Formats: sequence, structure tokens, C-alpha cells
Amino acid sequence: MKKIVFLLCILSVFLFSYTKKTSINSNNEDRFVNDLLAKMTLEEKIGQTNLRGTSSMTKALPEDLKRAVRNGEIGAFLNISNLDYVDELQRIAVEESPNKIPLIFSRDVIHGFKTVFPIPLGIAASWDTEVAKKSSEIAAFEASAMGIRWTFAPMLDIARDSRWGRIAESPGEDPYLASLLGKAYVEGFQGDDLSNPTSIAACAKHYIAYGAAIGGRDYNTVNLSEPLLRNVYLPPFEAAIDAGAATVMASFNEINGIPASGNAFLLKEVLRDELKFDGFVVSDWDSTEEMIAHGFAKDKKHAAELSANAGMDMEMNSTCYADNLKQLIKEGKFSETELNTFVKNILRIKYRLGLFEKPYRDKSHTGNYYAEAHMQEAKKAAIKSSVLLKNEGILPLDKNTKVALIGPLAHAPHEQLGTWTFDGEKEHTITPVDAFKAAKVNINFAAGFTHSRDRSDKGFQEAIQAAKASDVILFFGGEEAILSGEAHSRAYINLPGAQEALIHELAKLNKPIVLVIMAGRPISVSNIMDKTDAILMAWHPGTMGGEALYDMIYGVAEPQGRLPVSWPKTAGQLPYFYNHKNTGRPASAEEFIEMDSIPIHAWQSSLGNDSHYLDVGFTPQYPFGYGLGYSKFRYENLSISKDTIGFNEKITIKARITNVGERASTDLVQLYIQDVVGSITRPVRELKRFEHVYLKPGESKEVRFSISSKDIEFVNHKMIKAAEAGDFNVWIGENAASGLKTAFYLKE
Ligand code: NOJ
Repeated sequence: MKKIVFLLCILSVFLFSYTKKTSINSNNEDRFVNDLLAKMTLEEKIGQTNLRGTSSMTKALPEDLKRAVRNGEIGAFLNISNLDYVDELQRIAVEESPNKIPLIFSRDVIHGFKTVFPIPLGIAASWDTEVAKKSSEIAAFEASAMGIRWTFAPMLDIARDSRWGRIAESPGEDPYLASLLGKAYVEGFQGDDLSNPTSIAACAKHYIAYGAAIGGRDYNTVNLSEPLLRNVYLPPFEAAIDAGAATVMASFNEINGIPASGNAFLLKEVLRDELKFDGFVVSDWDSTEEMIAHGFAKDKKHAAELSANAGMDMEMNSTCYADNLKQLIKEGKFSETELNTFVKNILRIKYRLGLFEKPYRDKSHTGNYYAEAHMQEAKKAAIKSSVLLKNEGILPLDKNTKVALIGPLAHAPHEQLGTWTFDGEKEHTITPVDAFKAAKVNINFAAGFTHSRDRSDKGFQEAIQAAKASDVILFFGGEEAILSGEAHSRAYINLPGAQEALIHELAKLNKPIVLVIMAGRPISVSNIMDKTDAILMAWHPGTMGGEALYDMIYGVAEPQGRLPVSWPKTAGQLPYFYNHKNTGRPASAEEFIEMDSIPIHAWQSSLGNDSHYLDVGFTPQYPFGYGLGYSKFRYENLSISKDTIGFNEKITIKARITNVGERASTDLVQLYIQDVVGSITRPVRELKRFEHVYLKPGESKEVRFSISSKDIEFVNHKMIKAAEAGDFNVWIGENAASGLKTAFYLKE
């Protein structure tokens, strides 16, 4: 008893001092920010809202830019890669500007800085928050050496359409997985303390629903119901904000007719009032001015008025605010009180970053670019994110196998780094050819193409000769880095150029073909599927991709990724996502009518009668959550602790998983739930939990998941978030299309 009292005392002293400390800190912060604000002129306040792009600054630092900083007309910069400029601009800001307010230097540090990690969609395929956290921690460490203290990441747009180029940057199609990743990225970039000089401020982007663009066409229109917005697109932002994301970026798109950059409901009501976000919101590049092209603003002044009144704190690149806020305030169309709020939001983050105390980059911090530890983490991430889609017993290869390395991505150091690589240098990339040579494997290399879009068959003969001289063909196909990312949507999502044609030629040799795909999106493989013995999706795997692939192909490591998006058979199926609704006529194998089975001159009728395509059916090529390892697992003994629960009660669902293969291996055990009847219709399945399980051959483990009514809440048509009483189906399985099934009832 004495012991307990003692422990309680210690705990309360700790809690008291902790609460005191945080409130002293926030008091200090408020006082500091308010005192500073009180000294600022209107012009300086407007200056803080001005984020300048500097892409044109190639030769020397322009005098007018220096003057603007000296006058306090600029609050932050993006994409300056010249260290002297960073130092000089900051010096002017903190020594010569009226209130000596430091600048923030920002950059798109998306999946690594110098050491490039797999693209974010690849990291999502790891289903591993440690990978997300570690990769962003290393990126922050390397980038901060350049004076960069703010990154435009993580991108948290749910993406359900592989035609959209920016699916490469996304956390995939599922809100639960994306939320966990969002939190991990923020923790990695920002660390425990934002004022640590190696921490950088995160930016949850693009707020919001940018990934729901019609037809996967970038920047396109978004029409969404509010429950869909809240149930699917908002949760990752909520998670990032709860994790302390310092900034949020508004998206380019309109939502239900109102551009996100001028949307008071989203920026004020949802973001500030509901999510309690206390950092600052930045527009996307020119997205304020682009409201003119949207047909929402008449001119730049009107755009400034709309964005400012909607609650956008800072404008990126365009100068609607810089040119018009003063006049708008004078005319009473915008208030200085609101402007003060913007400035406080911005100064608060500068304060938290410790910029007032340490405005300059620490010259002794070199960033340890490409340090061995960074490279090894990048390699681990590439292994954890690679998804083995097909394996007819060919992988892993025996070390003595003679292999032909063919395909445009076999030795393409720049391309395997993927989209949004500004800083990673291809000279440091390890390609598959580099890695196989270093491991002294007997290889015959002939790319067959000059690049992924190459339509010529000039290189075919050389590739065929290399294949003839080998036992196994490793075809490294895919897309160049530039074919995904911003503004790089595709209508066909097959391997570009003549890659399919060469695979067809190689198949005539009757040798095993392993297709390794490096791309920014799922690639339609339906035309080449039957020509391959194995398919391994490596995404754009980053600097260490080659070594990672070598290890996986030879079984030093096993590919551990699982799909974070459904893999379509063809672009014609898109958008496709596992957590769709049932419809009044759910697609089923029994009802499916294949096009060629329809009698010629058939009488008009709704053959099949359900929601499918006559030519490709209703299932994807590979479902969400899918991926193979080098072993096999048996799932059995599914049980549930109660078949009825009340609100706020917990339930445990468990199953026994056994490694029935011959190798130690890791499986990803996934739990899905279906809310059978809802006040608004509910998805056929929703991911609620997952766990990586490592088992030796013959070993088994009981995997348990705990769920409460909190986990099955959703936002209904009255915009109320609640669980609804009724029946729930539950699956524990290896992907969204399989699993052992049970059920429970949630009672009133
Ligand atoms: C536009 C992109 O949409 C955004 O993601 C990026 O951060 C900015 N440009 C800055 O480069």
C-alpha cells in the first residue's frame, strides 16, 4: 500500500510539472508572438503570408528579392538549393529587416533527400509505420543540413485511381492505413521537438480530396458527398494534425464547386474549429490565383479576398495577397484582425522551430549524406515495400543461375529514384546491374531499350541473345520517373513503349521470365501475365533499389510488401477500390456473364443483371492487401470473444496462423469489418487492424485483435459520427478478398 501511495505521489508530481511546463511554454509562445505582432506594420504582416518560389534564381541573388526581405515583405522561401543564398537571405531577414523575423526555407522533401527511399506508395506497401517514420527522420536530418526546416510532405491524399500520376506520392486507397502512415511521417519529420535543428516542419497535403479528381486527371474537378469526404478523405489529415503536423497545404482542386483554396467551410469550420489545427495553412503553388481559371474569382484581387476570408494563412508563389491584401483591408473586404490571426499562426510555427533563437543552419551539421546507416535503411525500406504478385516456384533463384538482365529499368539510375527527386543524385544509385555485378553473379545484360517509352525493336536481338545465353530472364520493366507524379496521369497503364512486345518475343525462348516492375503506379499486366513466371513490384525503389532487388531475387531477403491499392486488370476498371459499396445488384461470380458467352443476335436483356464489366468482370487483378512471401500460411480457428457487444465494449477476435512452408517468413494478418446495414450504405469491407507476424517453418501463433464500437463509427448523413447498432461481419485474412469470416451484433 505504502508503495502505491509513493508511486502515486511521484506520478502526480511528474504530471503537475509536465502540465506546468507545457502551459509555461505555450504562455511564452503566445506572449512572444503577441508582442512581436504588436510591433509589426501592416506591410510586414502581409509579408509573413508571402511564400516565394525561387526557381528563376539561377545566377545571382536578385537585388529586388534582397530588398523585399530587407523590407519584411517575404515570410518564407521554397526550393532554394544554393547554400550561400540561404545564408544571405536569412542574414538579411534577421539583421536588416524591421522586426528581424527569420525566414523559413522549405522544399519538397518527399521520399528522402539525398538518400532516396521508395516512393510513398511503395512505403505504404510496407504497411510499416516504422519505415515511414525512419525514412522521414533521415530525410529531415539530411535536408536540415541545407537549412531546410519545412517540407511539403506527407501527401495524404487517398488515391483510388492508378491513372492519376500522383498516386505515386499517395498512401494508397485506405483511410485507416493512410492515417497510421500520416502520423508516422509527421513524427519522423518533426521528431520529439520541432526546435531541434534536425527536425523539419511537416505539411499535411493536399487538403483535401485532390485524389478524387475525375478520371484520374490531375487538378480535376471533385464531387463528393460530405459523409464520403469525412469517412474516407479526412481521417489521414485528422491523424496528422493529432500528431502535431505544423502546417497543412490546401489542394488545387475544387470540391462540389468551391476550390479548396477558397473554401471557408473546409479551412475554417473543419480544419480549425473541428480538428483544432493551430499551425498555418499554405496554398499550393499558385492555387489562390488559379481560382480565376476555375471560374470562382474574377481577378487576383478577388482571389485574395476569397482565399483570405476562407482562412488561408500563406500564399505560395502567386502574389494575390502581396498585391491586394492592404487594399482589401482598406475597403473593409478583409479585416486586419483576421490577418493578425494568419500572422500569429505563422509566427507560432517559426517560434516552435526555434528559428528566433537559431535562425541559421548549423554549418557543422553536414547531413551525413548517403551515410551507410541511411543507405541501409533505404534498402530495408525497398525490401519491405516490394510486393511479390506472382511466383510459380521460380523465386528465389539459386545463386548459380545464369541470368539475363533485360529491360529499361535494369540499369536506369535516375529513373529508379522516382518522382519528386530534387536532391538525390543518380551517381549514388545502385541499380540491379550494379548490384548483381558487385555480387559477382553471372549476368548477361542487354536493356533492349534506351528508355521505358522506347517503341523501337532495335535492341530486341541483343536482348534475345542475352536471354539465350542465360537460364532465367529477369525483365526490369516499368516507367521512367517522369511518367508519374504531378501532372503525369496516363490513360493506358500498361508497360509503355515496346516492352510488352519484347516480353512476347522473349517468351518464345521458353525460359522462365521474372518480371520486376519499377513504376509509380500499378501497371496493367493482363497482356503479359501468362508470359511470366513471377512478377515482383518494386515501385520506384530509390537509391538502394538494386541491392534490395538482388537480395530478394536470391532469397537473402523476402519481399514483404502488400498492396496499398487494388491492382486493376486494366485502366477501364478505374476507379477501383476494395472498400466500395455493394449496390442494389452486387457483382457475383454466379451472375457474371463473360462477353464471349453471349449468344450472337441475343435478344435485348440485361444478361447477368449485376454490377460488372462484360470483358473484365468485377474483380481486380490483385486485391488490396495482397502480396506473397517465400512461404505459405494457414489461417484457422477464428473465434470471437462475444457475439453481441454494447457501445464502448470491447471484443477480441483471434485466429491461429501457421507457417506451412519451408522458410521463415513474415505474413501480414489483416482484419476487416463490414457494417451490414447502415443509415447510409456502408462499404463491403473496411480495414480495421493488421499485424506483421514472423514465423519459422511449422511455427504458429494466435493473433488477436481488439475492437470496440469506436472502431466502427462513421459519419452518417446527419454528419454525426457514431456507431450504429446492428450486424457486423468480420474477416481475418491475407487480403481484402479473402479470409476466415465471423460476425457480431452491436446492441443498443
Ligand atoms: C505543387 C504540388 O502540388 C505540391 O505538392 C508541391 O509541394 C508544390 N507544388 C511545391 O513544389
